[in-house]
Amino acid sequence: MSEVIWGLATSHVPSIGAAMDRGMTGEPVWAPLFEGYRPAREWLAQHTPDVAILVYNDHANGVDLDIVPTFAIGTAESYEVADEGFGRRAVPDVVGDPDLSFHLLQSLVDDGFDMTVFQELDVDHGFTVPLSVWTPEAGDAWPCPVIPIMVNVIRYPQPTAARCYALGRALGRAIANYDGVGTVGILGTGGMSHQLAGARAGFINPTFDHMFLEAIGNDPEKLARLTREELIREAGSEGIELIMWLVMRGALNEQVRTVHSAYHVPASNTAAGLALFDNRA
Ligand code: DHB
Ligand code: FE
Repeated sequence: MSEVIWGLATSHVPSIGAAMDRGMTGEPVWAPLFEGYRPAREWLAQHTPDVAILVYNDHANGVDLDIVPTFAIGTAESYEVADEGFGRRAVPDVVGDPDLSFHLLQSLVDDGFDMTVFQELDVDHGFTVPLSVWTPEAGDAWPCPVIPIMVNVIRYPQPTAARCYALGRALGRAIANYDGVGTVGILGTGGMSHQLAGARAGFINPTFDHMFLEAIGNDPEKLARLTREELIREAGSEGIELIMWLVMRGALNEQVRTVHSAYHVPASNTAAGLALFDNRA
């Protein structure tokens, strides 16, 4: 029996990582965002799990756009940080947990989720920025092994919100049936509303984002009923990344305690959000 002790939803905007890497977090433009993170980071520092599972999307950095799996899992011993064109971030490579990966893979396939498998995978800002949001003082190593679960949010047709929530439920069952570790943290990443290109570039929708931030804790089933079209209309073409928050939420209990949430506009051209849930009974 392993236990998910917390769930963390966070945006993965690359400039949030760049601000940390360049020591700019105290500058006026960045200080409010990082001040908003503080209570969550303090709580997380007191609750380091044995292993973490991070639900994210690649942005054509680790995997070519010719191959876009709908759902995938990494089974590697370790994952290198991708070079996205400006040199790789000076953050640690990621240590994996192949035993737990294989357990999750087997369990998810048996549960009807035919996952693609990455035995080798470089992880981009979608992965490393959430790790930095969680644990800013990583130093030479992240605080525990981390397993990647990848979701297609970049090519039509993305999986539905309902399917992502169902994947999270299956993930929660798989974790509960694993004896190899004690405690697990799960991260759902991406969002909030943003659109990086096209006629609506710069689109941000605080009304929708606040609804989503509230409902992810209290009424995730409402969010799981959103269609792909509604998500893109309300949150922007890249705001559909929010479906990955539903994978995280599905792995938690029906009742969770919100430890902290934060919202800041803008980070880059994006609405940045964070929500941290204590999943312990
Ligand atoms: C940006 C990139 C992202 O992947 C994202 O989720 C938000 C913003 C950017 O390039 O600004
Ligand atoms: Fe993104």
